[in-house]
Amino acid sequence: MTTEAATYTEQEFIADAREAFTANRDPMHQAHAVAGLLRRAFASGWPENSPKFGDGDGTFEVYRDAELGHPGPGFVVLAYRQPPQQIKRPAPHDHGVCWVVYGVKSGSNAQTRYAYRYSGDRSELPSFEKTQEILQRDGDVDYFLPGEIHSVQGSTEEETIYVRITSMDLNDVQRHRYDVESGRSAVFSSATTVNP
Ligand SMILES: [Fe+2]
Repeated sequence: MTTEAATYTEQEFIADAREAFTANRDPMHQAHAVAGLLRRAFASGWPENSPKFGDGDGTFEVYRDAELGHPGPGFVVLAYRQPPQQIKRPAPHDHGVCWVVYGVKSGSNAQTRYAYRYSGDRSELPSFEKTQEILQRDGDVDYFLPGEIHSVQGSTEEETIYVRITSMDLNDVQRHRYDVESGRSAVFSSATTVNP
């Protein structure tokens, strides 16, 4: 087998991601499929080998689809290189009706999931709790489905290369930020990386 035969190109990756949207109508299967494709792309040296991925720290838009996405057009692929981060408070947020895939090509990144927990007492407000902590290392890819709440803490020690794929342009989506202590939320619209 030649080296070329084992290579998964950016063009193939984007074509397969588009196929994931047309083959699956529901967000769980779309996100799961795209996460698997991203792991494969990472194994072939992407995104560093992309002509869209520049030198230095910053965010690089690799692809924006005009037609396909969930719940509407179009999905966006961003790659970014982040220097070691200062300690920050967690900033839980959701992605509204969109799903998001987060992958770490190199470096590390901590993901935390949150959810509301309800007691048996209907007079009480639900509590806002961490439900999962995930340390993403080289090649790890995870996804968050519509309405799921998470926070991202970039590595404080090492440069990290990330890829984020959103099922739509988040600038077009209303979503929420959550106060980690009270669970109160506020609506915002922003596609700003790296967090969130
Ligand atoms: Fe996020």
